[in-house]
Amino acid sequence: MSGSRIELAYGDQPPVGRMLLLGAGRDFDLTPFDPGQTQIVQGFFPDVQALEGWGYDIVTEPRGAFAQALVVIPRSRALARARLAQASALLPEGAALWIDGLKTDGIDSVLREIRGLLPVEEVHSRAHGKIFRVTIPADRWYPQEWVATATEVAPGFSTVPGVFSADGPDPASVALVAHLPEKMPTRVVDLGAGWGWLSAQILARPGVEVLHLVEADAASLDCAKRNVVDPRARFHWTDALTFALSEPVNGVVMNPPFHEGRKADPALGAGFIQTAARLLTGAGRLWMVANRHLPYEAVLRDNFADVSEIGGDSRFKILTASGAGRGAVARKKGRKS
Ligand SMILES: C[S@@+](CC[C@H](N)C(=O)[O-])C[C@H]1O[C@@H](n2cnc3c(N)ncnc32)[C@H](O)[C@@H]1O
Repeated sequence: MSGSRIELAYGDQPPVGRMLLLGAGRDFDLTPFDPGQTQIVQGFFPDVQALEGWGYDIVTEPRGAFAQALVVIPRSRALARARLAQASALLPEGAALWIDGLKTDGIDSVLREIRGLLPVEEVHSRAHGKIFRVTIPADRWYPQEWVATATEVAPGFSTVPGVFSADGPDPASVALVAHLPEKMPTRVVDLGAGWGWLSAQILARPGVEVLHLVEADAASLDCAKRNVVDPRARFHWTDALTFALSEPVNGVVMNPPFHEGRKADPALGAGFIQTAARLLTGAGRLWMVANRHLPYEAVLRDNFADVSEIGGDSRFKILTASGAGRGAVARKKGRKS
């Protein structure tokens, strides 16, 4: 928890002037930051909802001028550098830039790298992380390559720093595609669509009339919009756990996330399975890929009548399920008899 580090940085002296917080999520200690004076750059939908509920101005791209900034270091080094460059470009000379992060997200190596470029004025360590301050100099201090740009990672597909599997198609999704039927159902949902590679493979198969790409991360969905240029695609920036459609679909395909922040959390994948069951007609079908060690079969059987493994290797398993809604009923009946 970075809250205690924020306390060390600001004490009982809240920041003066308009504040930019890059990457702060709903778990961040916001105590010193006045909602009326603080803009938060955050693109993860569940965080955005929580932060907006507390009255903060949440954006995916910062707007306006700022007196100081704080960057939360993410695990992706490319995204960390991009955030530092972005914050620095928006601050006037002499402004304070605080940099906060966990050891497990690489704050020590970020601190080493910045020490090679700028004087670091204050460093505090607490709660498995560090927070430190630099002052913005007159001239650009960071290498120009730190500025985020889209990179082509496969023909016709580009990504930006920090998105899932930013270097190219995820091997688990490649394995899943190899097990999709030659002809797909007409109305399909890709839950957790990322930058769109899996969605594009779904659309390349015959049968699909409409494909809903559901993704919580705004940067990923923006990539998907560039990568999947197809009139059958519908893009939804939202939380898959609460996603609903007015009409049921007859196919769901997904490579669900299994991490919430740093913690492996199979409950997130279980929530995706429940959403899939809610979205599908009784005759519809789910195809999903999961890491071999993740125990999704029980939740699949709770939500679907028929569940089977149709492929995989020592790393992944490809699962399919049909009979949405009927699994739970069948189980209840089984328990009674
Ligand atoms: C394992 S990745 C798969 C991405 C993409 N389908 C692919 O095959 O490369 C899971 C995706 O789910 C997204 N995600 C995580 N939590 C989410 C949520 N609550 N709602 C919607 N998407 C979420 C992540 O941002 C990530 O893009």
